[in-house]
Amino acid sequence: MTTPLDALPEDVLRRRGSTKWATHPDDVIPLFVAESDFPLAPAITAALREAVEIGDTGYTPPRHGLQDAYVAFAARRHDWTVDPARVRTTADVVMGLVELLRGVTSPGERVIVTPPVYPPFFDAVPEAGAVVELVPLTATGELDLPGIEAAFAAGATAMLLCNPQNPTGTVHTRETLAELATIAKRHGAAIISDEIHAPLVREGVTFTPFLDASADAAAVGYAVTSASKAYNLAGLKCALMITADERTTEVVAQLPIEVEWRTGWFGALAGIAAYDEASDAWLDALRARLDRNRTLIAELVAEHLPGAVYRVPDAGYLAWIDVSALGWGDDPAPMILERARVAVNPGPSFGDAGRGHIRVNFATSEELLREAFARIGALV
Ligand SMILES: Cc1ncc(COP(=O)(O)O)c(C=O)c1O
Repeated sequence: MTTPLDALPEDVLRRRGSTKWATHPDDVIPLFVAESDFPLAPAITAALREAVEIGDTGYTPPRHGLQDAYVAFAARRHDWTVDPARVRTTADVVMGLVELLRGVTSPGERVIVTPPVYPPFFDAVPEAGAVVELVPLTATGELDLPGIEAAFAAGATAMLLCNPQNPTGTVHTRETLAELATIAKRHGAAIISDEIHAPLVREGVTFTPFLDASADAAAVGYAVTSASKAYNLAGLKCALMITADERTTEVVAQLPIEVEWRTGWFGALAGIAAYDEASDAWLDALRARLDRNRTLIAELVAEHLPGAVYRVPDAGYLAWIDVSALGWGDDPAPMILERARVAVNPGPSFGDAGRGHIRVNFATSEELLREAFARIGALV
């Protein structure tokens, strides 16, 4: 059995200057923004150290090792064959979503977003000149395929898919994705699939890349992903845009040259090291840690938050917890921060369905999670 990866000690984490550890005072346990508290995979540290030592800090060239590294990773980890010529890079996933939306929609067109979902989706659509059309997930966190079909029939031209879904941790099934692709094809619509959490599926769960779900999916889909979530590289600015069809590849090729030019070279270097087979053991150790923490959260919710509802997520490191039974109103996060000194994400920022919810980042130590839930529980 794989030994779970251990988080860095709190005193070391408090020396970090990135958002998770630098936003709040030292008496706050930060369980909000999706950064993780583990040491980097050793191959990433080595690659970045070497780059710093030789001053390799320039612009990212158009072709580099990341495309081939991702192709090999996709084959090993997702059983997915990707054409390296159809992998392009940009600065981050959200930028990729926005630029692809610009490529597939005309100003004023409607784009389906499926809340509860990663809040920047609501902003990415207007940033691209389009209009958000909400088709919420079902009560069990699945895509509402009849609702999506109705929205496409009424004129929506694209959809932002979150697979796996943040914040519910839903890993959409191959059948669902294939059906979604059939619907999109029928209406001439595009599906842009954010797959950033894909490497972090729970033991025993299979992630299906949207483009690999069916021939229709390959024809209508664009995937955007990055090593930034699983390997904690968000500050290094590098994401991948992947297509599987001549027409969609041409759409990406027509994006302004600056879209690719903005790729961070440290992000690309770190991504190459992350996707290398040498980092698989680290990834498996991280997944073993997250598997433990997913279960631990269930125990902590039962112990400290009676009546709260938490479904163990199939992927990622975010716990979506319905605390409405505790009578803390629509948005308990500010009260939890103020009184328990624990920073969690406000449920309503993920859409209306997030009222009475909090999102808790569990990519940290068991010790900090225990302390955080004890503090929140003391408010009950
Ligand atoms: C679903 C999803 N997409 C994108 C991002 C952000 O990615 P990036 O920093 O590459 O834009 C996150 C970060 O948490 C996320 O959860």
